[in-house]
Amino acid sequence: MKPISITAERDYDVIFDRSWVRELEKISESFDKTLVLIPKSLYQLFGISKIELSKIRFLQTPEGEAAKTQDYLQTVWQECGNYGLTRSDCIVGLGGGSTTDLAGFAAATWLRGINWHAIPTSLAGMVDAAIGGKTGINSEHGKNLIGAFHSPNSVIVDFTFLETLSDRDFNAGMAEVLKAGFIVDPKILELALEAKANLQELIWRSIKVKADVVSSDFKESKLREILNYGHTLGHAIEANENYELRHGEAVAIGLVFAAELSNVTGNLAGEEVAKHRELLTKFNLPISYRAGEFQKLIDLMAGDKKSRGKRVRFIGLGEIGKVIWMESVTSDQLKLAYERISS
Ligand SMILES: NC(=O)c1ccc[n+]([C@@H]2O[C@H](COP(=O)([O-])OP(=O)(O)OC[C@H]3O[C@@H](n4cnc5c(N)ncnc54)[C@H](O)[C@@H]3O)[C@@H](O)[C@H]2O)c1
Repeated sequence: MKPISITAERDYDVIFDRSWVRELEKISESFDKTLVLIPKSLYQLFGISKIELSKIRFLQTPEGEAAKTQDYLQTVWQECGNYGLTRSDCIVGLGGGSTTDLAGFAAATWLRGINWHAIPTSLAGMVDAAIGGKTGINSEHGKNLIGAFHSPNSVIVDFTFLETLSDRDFNAGMAEVLKAGFIVDPKILELALEAKANLQELIWRSIKVKADVVSSDFKESKLREILNYGHTLGHAIEANENYELRHGEAVAIGLVFAAELSNVTGNLAGEEVAKHRELLTKFNLPISYRAGEFQKLIDLMAGDKKSRGKRVRFIGLGEIGKVIWMESVTSDQLKLAYERISS
């Protein structure tokens, strides 16, 4: 598959069809020292202890969000110091989105920024987290509040990782794939509806959507906001559920809400809203949320770091593949859209 190029504060490629072990070996050959962050469970699952690689040190991290804490970042910095990582060395994030977020942020902050490579192992990591140069950890005030834009030197996508991913994590990643289809590339939606969908093409196309967007607006001055389709309510639902839903599950509900809101405001046709439900349901993703939570979600949305000031802004659709910015949605319109997704 053709590599995808990304232009940011440094240009880099997303590469496909290569063995991650071979690529890791190549990375380690270009540096004196390489520190690989990998969750404990994946260290076991991928049989890392049997892989002989010189000039590489593995740091086994806690799972998921437990690794994206200030406490754990201290451990990573400590390891960087103990290993003696210099500006000409490198960090690798080998894992899901939480691992690449942590590895990228450690690389952004150690010695004011060193090299790093992303080897995403989850679908969400491949199509979303590892792409676009946003790195970070969580604060007690919210998710991803401490971070930096720091692009990797490369992103290595090895589809074989998906063989061990749970159905739940796979489906959660599909929410981001479908989002890419809704906002820019409707061919993704066609492919996703096929009985035997071509997963590799779906992933390639989704990455291409994000790569093109971040290449023209790396620091999110405007265009990059389109990637937030479905995320305004999605983030609020994640917080309301104490992060016990997968990000993609919360986003799935948010996508239906954003589609309904686009319809309520006279933009998106009803059958295109129905298409959201059809596609998300195909991947067992939730499409409704408890009635009665509306006010709490509104309050959470007002506190979202992406809402400017107190005004809640939404990304909507005029039609599938055509994004609109909804700056002045009324509370009645919000209420109506919420009623339509309430269970
Ligand atoms: N930086 C960004 O632009 C960006 C964008 C979207 C999401 N994110 C972040 O990404 C994270 C979510 O990513 P995620 O869904 O990958 O979660 P995750 O990294 O927590 O991984 C979920 C689980 O899947 C396991 N896993 C990963 N790959 C596996 C494989 N191949 N086989 C078996 N198990 C595997 C992980 O060990 C973990 O237990 C969140 O922290 C979110 O904030 C960042």
